[in-house]
Amino acid sequence: MSRTNKNSYIWDVPTRVCHWALLVLFVFSWWSGREGGMFLQYHMLSGYCILSLVLFRFFWGIFGTSSSLFSNFLFGPAEVWRYSKTIFHKNSVRYFTHNPLGGWAVIVMLVALLLQVITGLFANDDLFNEGPLYQYVSSQVSDFFTGIHEVIANFLIGLILLHILVIAFYQFWKKQHLVRAMITGYLSEVPEKSRVVPVTLWRALFFLVLSGSIVTLIVSL
Ligand code: HEM
Repeated sequence: MSRTNKNSYIWDVPTRVCHWALLVLFVFSWWSGREGGMFLQYHMLSGYCILSLVLFRFFWGIFGTSSSLFSNFLFGPAEVWRYSKTIFHKNSVRYFTHNPLGGWAVIVMLVALLLQVITGLFANDDLFNEGPLYQYVSSQVSDFFTGIHEVIANFLIGLILLHILVIAFYQFWKKQHLVRAMITGYLSEVPEKSRVVPVTLWRALFFLVLSGSIVTLIVSL
């Protein structure tokens, strides 16, 4: 069995802030989307913020801190299968970042969020509100995107409920305090060789501004 550290720094500030901001924005978007009417302008703003954060997370998965790099938590089918077979074992192999199943779940969530916002850019509410790119498609295509926007919203709710359920499973069955780690950055008993050295916050700020600028450019086309 590999040696483990008692308490290791895993999640850097940008990854944690991005995660909890996504949670707040998602809840707000869901609520404001259901309210409709005058709330839709805030719904759209919230969507732009989500798009910026998702873009940021993709940049951070390539240029960020080691625990957030896609290359460190996206494994091939053999490793995913090997891990899946041991998922109910209380002492299955520990990873210093997302486990092989969790890693792909992260990608599914990020891609679903991306599709959700992209379809929203072309959507309409049959009244006075239209996404900023509505003018570039026919009204049939916009209606189609509006339908997909609603389908993905429901899919995301299911996905997030599953996400929370799995986290609870790790918390209570496997005694891995993942929520605490996502709040404080520290997780216990991760493999010793995996010391995470956070990269500078300036780099995070650069990619955040870059993501925000890309989104601003898109919505003002
Ligand atoms: C009460 C609600 C939530 C809790 C308690 C929670 C908790 C967590 C925890 C503990 C992790 C780390 C899992 C691991 O160590 O492998 C995580 C990751 C993640 N969660 Fe959540 N989550 C919540 C809601 C959400 C929502 C609403 C979204 C999306 C809108 C979301 C998207 C993600 C993503 C994308 C990751 C990967 C983080 C990264 O690598 O940057 N979560 N969540």
